[in-house]
Amino acid sequence: MHARLAALPPLVFAGEARRLTGALAAAAEGRAFLLQAGDCAESFSEFTADGIRDKLRVILQMGVALTYGAGVPVVKVGRIAGQFAKPRSSPTERVGDEEIDAFRGHMVNDDLPVARARIPDPERLVTAYQQSVATLNLLRAFTKGGFADLSQVHAWNQEFVATSTEGRRFEAIAEGIDRALRFMAACGIDLHGEETLHEVDFWTSHEALILDYEEALTRRDSLTGDWYDCSAHLLWVGERTRQVDGAHCEFLSGIHNPVASKIGPSTTPDEVVRLAERLNPDRRPGRLTLITRFGADRIASGLPPLLRAIRDEGHPVVWACDPMHGNTFTTEDGRKTRRFDDILSEIKGFFAAHREVGTWPGGVHVELTGDDVTECLGGVEDIVEGQLHQRYTTACDPRLNARQSLDLAFRVAELLSDGTMPPNVG
Ligand code: PEP
Ligand code: CO
Repeated sequence: MHARLAALPPLVFAGEARRLTGALAAAAEGRAFLLQAGDCAESFSEFTADGIRDKLRVILQMGVALTYGAGVPVVKVGRIAGQFAKPRSSPTERVGDEEIDAFRGHMVNDDLPVARARIPDPERLVTAYQQSVATLNLLRAFTKGGFADLSQVHAWNQEFVATSTEGRRFEAIAEGIDRALRFMAACGIDLHGEETLHEVDFWTSHEALILDYEEALTRRDSLTGDWYDCSAHLLWVGERTRQVDGAHCEFLSGIHNPVASKIGPSTTPDEVVRLAERLNPDRRPGRLTLITRFGADRIASGLPPLLRAIRDEGHPVVWACDPMHGNTFTTEDGRKTRRFDDILSEIKGFFAAHREVGTWPGGVHVELTGDDVTECLGGVEDIVEGQLHQRYTTACDPRLNARQSLDLAFRVAELLSDGTMPPNVG
């Protein structure tokens, strides 16, 4: 299987990964903001062109609101085109009175709750590769072919604001963007012809969990002679596999892509510094992103010591907030969910911690879909527990639906534009 994958073409090129490192360097230095978003787990069964388009559309819409709020470029990175493997807290799962192996993502086994579906099948590595190719092909076509046109994305945002009662509070932001566009047009800028307003850079990322897959797609760049994991632009290690002397960090330390690590509430200042030394010994800005996932009630006390430790060691990192994974809980009828208010509250705590320490809150990392699912509670159209079963289709963790995602982006835009978060502090 390794040989078969190793013979297949790369999905991304080294030069692209280097450009992303450059874009992230700006986020490390307070001159850009990272928006990393997409499914918890991509699915072989829920794979359609419309699904990809709708997810991209939401991310682009969020990007415009955040660009306006932050006043700096937003680096858009999807959890997409390769996010097929899941770490699990428990190796097994109880179904009725049977204990079966856990679902590990479609790159490994199937999610059907029966024992035989959970047997790993290496053929799935190739299917994951092929679906990633098809997904990336569509993303490239959409983002360079006119779908990402700023005026168009802004029109979708106006539609969101106009059709939602809660959305009304965001009229000030939408109106501000509208005035900015009119101003640019009045200055003679061709809003439809200008390439930077018509096309966007959209990058791919996933958790580098199945090292067989990642290694097979790691290639030597003919220009520089350096090794790049060409399965995605950015790769990260998860909370369960980020041991400094573990195999996953060893792999990330050997590739030249931009890389990231999740950081949970058990992380000590000493540990985070060792992680940064391990993954970015040369202290190259943009090389390392640290994605904090504390939980709304732990971020205020847990994050500042880590921010100080990294700052005092002079490590240039992008700090991103994953407000999803520390706020998951299971309802009485056994569904994993998250409250919109907890998600927003963790982001507020993230901003407050950075304000306290004087560092730049470099971005957010969220699980979302463009579909109208009912997986997270609250938001614009207050979803309550009794509704979760209606459209609960995630292959793993609960995602924000399109409206909840936009609601979140506009609120974060408000927070970023309230004047307390000066850029260029990094
Ligand atoms: C995830 O990003 O889906 C995930 C499992 O996160 P973490 O490693 O932070 O738990
Ligand atoms: Co998840």
